[in-house]
Amino acid sequence: MSEMFTHDILILGSGIAGLRAALEISMKSDGKVDVGIISKLQLMRSHSVAAEGGTAAVMRPEEGDSFDLHAWDTIKGSDFLSDQDVVYRFVKRMPDEIRRLDRWGIPWSRKPDGRIDQRAFGGHGYPRAVFAADKTGFFEMQTLYDTLLQYDNVTRYDEWFVTSLIIEDGVFKGVTAIDIPTGEFHIFKAKAIIIASGGIGRVSGFTTYSYTVTGDGVAMAYRAGIPLKDMEFVQFHPTGLIPTGILITEACRGEGGYLRNSKGERFMERYAPSRMELAPRDIISRSIITEINEGRGFPGPNDLDYVSLDLTHLGEGMINERLGFIRELTMKFVGIDPVNEVIPIRPVLHYLMGGIDTNIDGKASGVEGVWTAGEAGCESLHGANRLGTNSTAECLVYGGITGNEALKYIDGKELRDFSKDAVQKEKDRLFKDMLKRDGKESVYELRAAVRDIIDKHMSVYRTGEKMEEGLKRIREVKERYKNITVRDKSKAYNTDLVFALELGFMIDVAEVLIEGGLRRKESRGGHARLDYTKRDDEHWLKHTIAKYTPDGPEFEYSDVTITTWKPIERKY
Ligand code: FUM
Repeated sequence: MSEMFTHDILILGSGIAGLRAALEISMKSDGKVDVGIISKLQLMRSHSVAAEGGTAAVMRPEEGDSFDLHAWDTIKGSDFLSDQDVVYRFVKRMPDEIRRLDRWGIPWSRKPDGRIDQRAFGGHGYPRAVFAADKTGFFEMQTLYDTLLQYDNVTRYDEWFVTSLIIEDGVFKGVTAIDIPTGEFHIFKAKAIIIASGGIGRVSGFTTYSYTVTGDGVAMAYRAGIPLKDMEFVQFHPTGLIPTGILITEACRGEGGYLRNSKGERFMERYAPSRMELAPRDIISRSIITEINEGRGFPGPNDLDYVSLDLTHLGEGMINERLGFIRELTMKFVGIDPVNEVIPIRPVLHYLMGGIDTNIDGKASGVEGVWTAGEAGCESLHGANRLGTNSTAECLVYGGITGNEALKYIDGKELRDFSKDAVQKEKDRLFKDMLKRDGKESVYELRAAVRDIIDKHMSVYRTGEKMEEGLKRIREVKERYKNITVRDKSKAYNTDLVFALELGFMIDVAEVLIEGGLRRKESRGGHARLDYTKRDDEHWLKHTIAKYTPDGPEFEYSDVTITTWKPIERKY
C-alpha cells in the first residue's frame, strides 16, 4: 500500500554532503525542523566512505598558506573554468569545517606537537590536505553520523530508491520512491530538497566508484527540467589499481611516492618538472597515457596497460602509519606489498566536475525549493579539473551552505499539494511499464555497453570522430533500453528493477557527457582533444548548459565569473 510521508526538508543521499546538510539544519533550528534523509543504501555505505587522502583547508596562514593561494591553486587547476566568486567563498569557509569536525571528535592525524597535520597534494602550492591516515572519508562520515545521532528531528530512510522529483509550476513539492525491502511505492511531500546523491562514475567500467554510483539524482533533476552544467568534464585520477580500478590515493605521492615507467624513469620530469608527481591530475593522467602510448608502459590485462607507483623508499613505518589502508588493499587485492614492491596503476575515472546547474548558494537553476550539495551539483567550483582534496571539502562547505539556505527558504511555507496524475503516471511507469517489460534486451548487457562506450569514446584523450561514434552508440543503447526485460517480477528486494531504473539514469547522463564533449571544440582540463589540442578562451571560456528534451539534450552556454585572476597559460 502506498503511503504519504511528510517532512519539512528532504535530503537525497547520505554521504558527507547529505549528513553535513542535515546537521546544519538540525543545529540552526535547534532540532525543530523535520528532516528526512533518503538513500538507496545503508547510510554508512555511501560512497563518501571511500575517500582516502584528505580535505583541503588553509590552516597555517602564519606559515605561508593563504586564502588567495588556495583560491589561485583551485582556479589554475580548473583551467580557468571555475567561477572565482564561488572558489573564494569556498576557501574562506573551509578552516571552520575542519575545526568543527575536530570538536565533534574526528581523529585527524596530528603532528608530534599535537597540531592537526597536513600533507601535500597535486596542484596545491602548499601542503594543505588535512587527513585521517588514508581513511579520511570514512572518519568524516563516522563523525558526522555520530554527531547527528544527538538530534531526533531526523528520520532515515535507508534502502529507499527515489524514482522522480515532483516539480510543478517550477516549484518542488515532493518525490516518489520505492521502499526496496518491501517493493512498495510511496510518496514524500516536502517544502524543499537537497540533492546530495553523488556522481555518475559507474557509467565507466574502470572507475574508483562503488557499484551504486549511477547518477540517479543528476538524471532525475535533468528529467524534471533542471539543466546540467559542464558534464563533459570528468576526471581521471592518475592512480587506479590494476585490474580493479580501486583508488590508490594521491597521498602516496603526497608522502613522497614516485611514478615510474617501464624503464624505471620518473617520467613526470618530462611533463611537469617543477611539480613532478604532484602536478594536477589531468596533467599526470595525460602523461601516463602518453608514456604507455609511446611504449614505455607495461602490458596489462584487458587493454589496461600501466605504469608503476613506487613507495619502496618510504619505509615500512611511514607506510603503516600514513598509508596503512593502501598497504592492506594492495596486499589483499593483488598480493603486492608496497613496502618492497611497486604498485601497477593507470588513470581511472574518478570524479564528475559538472553536475546539476546551480548558483553560488547551491540553488538549482530555474526551480524553487531545490538545492544540491557535493558531487551531484555544479556550482562551478572545480571548473574543468578538480584538485584532489577539494571534493570532501566541497561536501562539507556546500552541505553547510545549502542546509542553511533551505532552512531560510522553508520559513513560513506550507507543504504543497500536487496533481494526483503526476504520481499515478510515475507509478504506472514503474509497475505497469518497467516491471512488466519482457523484451529481448538484457539490462546487464546494456549496462556493460554503456561502460564500454564511455571507456572507449570518452577517455583521457578524445577526438571528434571517437565522440561521434560514442554518441551514435549511446543513442542505440537508448533505443534498445525500450525493449529490456525485468526478469524478477516480485516486490521484495527487487534489485533487477532497481538496476533497470539505474540504467535509464546512466544512459541519460552518458548522452549529455558525450554530446557536451563533442560540441566543445577545444582542450581544457579533463577534456583533452587530439583534434583541438589548445585551450580556446576566445570561443570556449564558458559553461556548457544541457537541457532535457525527450529527443536528447539541447545545449546553450553561460559566462564564467572571473573576479580577480585572468586566465594565463597553465604550466607546472
Ligand atoms: O587520491 C585521493 O585520495 C583522492 C582524493 C580526492 O579525490 O579528493
